[in-house]
Amino acid sequence: MSHKGAETVLNEREETTVLDPRTDAKPAGDPTKALKPVMLGDIEVKTPVVLSPMAGVTNWPFRVLCEEYGPNGLYVAEMITARALVAKNPKALRLCRFAPTEKIRSLQLYGVDPAIMEQAARIVVDNDMADHVDLNFGCPVPKVTRRGGGSALPWKTDLFGEVVGRVVEVCGEKDIPVTAKIRVGIDHDHETFHEAGHIAQEEGCAAVTLHARTTAEYYGGHSDWSRITELVDELDIPVFGNGDIWGADDAQAMVEQTGCAGVAIGRGAQGRPWLFGDLKNLFAGSSERFNPTLAEVCTTIRRHAELMTEFYDGDENMAVRDMRKHVACYLKGYPVGGKVRKAFMECDSLAGLDAVIAATLDEVGPETTLPERVVDKPRGRVRFAKKVHLPYGWLDSRTTTHAEREALFGDDPMDASY
Ligand SMILES: Cc1cc2nc3c(=O)[nH]c(=O)nc-3n(C[C@H](O)[C@H](O)[C@H](O)COP(=O)(O)O)c2cc1C
Repeated sequence: MSHKGAETVLNEREETTVLDPRTDAKPAGDPTKALKPVMLGDIEVKTPVVLSPMAGVTNWPFRVLCEEYGPNGLYVAEMITARALVAKNPKALRLCRFAPTEKIRSLQLYGVDPAIMEQAARIVVDNDMADHVDLNFGCPVPKVTRRGGGSALPWKTDLFGEVVGRVVEVCGEKDIPVTAKIRVGIDHDHETFHEAGHIAQEEGCAAVTLHARTTAEYYGGHSDWSRITELVDELDIPVFGNGDIWGADDAQAMVEQTGCAGVAIGRGAQGRPWLFGDLKNLFAGSSERFNPTLAEVCTTIRRHAELMTEFYDGDENMAVRDMRKHVACYLKGYPVGGKVRKAFMECDSLAGLDAVIAATLDEVGPETTLPERVVDKPRGRVRFAKKVHLPYGWLDSRTTTHAEREALFGDDPMDASY
């Protein structure tokens, strides 16, 4: 451990692109454990499959696409910084919007100051902005953890309990269920999930989601599902398992191995909203799976871009630019050459996008499908943290001092994006 300036910096690790070895081993057979609906307070999640919140990804256009393929799950909005919501920051307010078709409006809040979190929850409740509130205690990004937020926060059990408790109390006025999303800990010498799970349950959370990696593991290695089993065995409230579900078989394996009440999927859904269709089929006992042709993928890209244009209040340029990261995910694994990919990245209007789609289909062939070897394989971020940044002296005690709180709350950022 080293102290750099006014922060604590944990173990530097090699970056790696080593992927989850289990994804090559497909479990055989029919789903043996169909998932039962999960109740979050009075809300029934009929198919307990969650689109895990992803900053810059799970805004309403993407959620709508996922819900169209696999209805009756839970599709969580990307995290909203409590302080930004309290300040009525326009960008934060945009992220709070839902499409009229969304059945369960699910928001995620992030913050370290219980008073600001309570104010943000009050805004959500008084303005009927959501049906469900998730709390982010999983973010590993240095900008967040160096301020004691995200996955660093559960280390301070007093602060964690206070944040959860105050949000639960406010949301309880309108029977809005609150859930907590946590990681295993900061690293394996500083695990937090056992206490965090129990505190969340005691403070009235309706469920917890465990991303079974530590902050230090970031997105590297693999999610250790045995930790999900441990939490399932310990808690009375439902536990959603998270980490490394790339296809329906992985979801089935996680449910069978851990006994979790439901599964949460992040990166595996990027550029693949039809994964929710596969999961709906899986848990309904059907072996039918989507393997879209390039033409179908391009139709989805076009529709996503249209919805994004609506999201940006008609600003096509903003929409198509924001689509670039999505397009890279949609095309991942298809034999689309560098020139075509570059053309997609340079689009700045829907007409431009149409022209590139037409050229792509001409060049590659509309009936092209994904080669077997890349279906359901890891995608997106796959690295270990270079360093874990924490407030100075953070690990010295499991509770906060008055001075620590003052320093933290003064430093709570407006924009804590991933
Ligand atoms: C680009 C990106 C953005 C993310 N943003 C959030 C977020 O806003 N809130 C959150 O709780 N987790 C966030 N996560 C973490 C995911 O929700 C999920 O826990 C993690 O990716 C592990 O699940 P997976 O293996 O299915 O991807 C993000 C992950 C990625 C890759």
